[in-house]
Amino acid sequence: MAQIKIQTPDDWHLHFRDGDMLNETVPATARCFNRAIVMPNLVPPITNAKMIEEYRKRILAARPEGSKFEPLMTLYLTNETTREDIILAKEVGTVAAKLYPAGATTNSDAAVKSLEPIFPIFEEMQKQGMLLLIHGEVTDDHVDIFDREKEFIDRHLTRIVTTFPELKIVFEHITTKDAVDFVVSSNDNVAATITPQHLLLNRNDMLVGGIRPHNYCLPVLKRNIHQQALRKVVATGNKKFFLGTDSAPHEKDMKESACGCAGCYSAWSAIELYTHVFDELDALDKLEGFASHYGADFYGLPRNEGTITLVKEDWTIPEQIILPNGNPIVPFFAGQNCTWKLID
Ligand code: DOR
Ligand code: ZN
Repeated sequence: MAQIKIQTPDDWHLHFRDGDMLNETVPATARCFNRAIVMPNLVPPITNAKMIEEYRKRILAARPEGSKFEPLMTLYLTNETTREDIILAKEVGTVAAKLYPAGATTNSDAAVKSLEPIFPIFEEMQKQGMLLLIHGEVTDDHVDIFDREKEFIDRHLTRIVTTFPELKIVFEHITTKDAVDFVVSSNDNVAATITPQHLLLNRNDMLVGGIRPHNYCLPVLKRNIHQQALRKVVATGNKKFFLGTDSAPHEKDMKESACGCAGCYSAWSAIELYTHVFDELDALDKLEGFASHYGADFYGLPRNEGTITLVKEDWTIPEQIILPNGNPIVPFFAGQNCTWKLID
């Protein structure tokens, strides 16, 4: 049976949430990833060093027995963030700060309402060597949701990148050919994460034959040409593109609703589905770079020491998982076939 062994991977973008939910999300990720960049969009958001330290402890307490999994913490930027906040966050080991344009996604209302005033904060981050992680979408009502990523590149990202050439920037969960082209043509301090859903699906998978709320995430799935651009770039093994699942749990009722939440909970199948995609692309030799090398290299962190093994074997992703609070959640790709399986 075909199998593939790669250095232990990391997840460079996910949502663990908080409280009880950590007992579900942390083990799910720690089963195969050694580290993860943990998003700070909690309620209330993680806006200072003290909150970061406390949240980190709660995550560590939810690790399975014996697990060496390491959460990498991030700071939630607002228009009230000060240079002092950056310095103190850095002192407690925070690796990055997250820029959400206010209203762009889940729990982002308190985030950045105006970009210009926050430029001194980017300057401090550049000085401190703290990475800037960007949810790259404009939020103006008049801009079509399918154009919001491109509009963000044209109106904001280009200027941020030119103004701060030494600031390391991760354009998170990119969804368009425009984003791929932008990252490829930018300097080496600009990289991007790509999710399993944006590699596997396009907007037809969300809208044809009925609305499929479990495929709804933000940035929203785009048309097929964009999906193809993402698949093409990962198959080339370009080191600017690396794994970030954006695994983002929402309970079943919150997704299957008249106003459903955005997010795909992929932690239980992410590494398997990425492998499935790289196999489809005939690019299994590029999986290890994407999953285990390029992210660590970009963040300036050591690559992991262990390995994981996957075998080519069909399995069906469960229809639902019961959360520690007793409520069901529908995992990403529920009921569908995955062609690769992680073995111990
Ligand atoms: O689909 C998404 N869900 N996109 C995000 O940017 C946030 C995430 C969440 O927190 O639910
Ligand atoms: Zn996210």
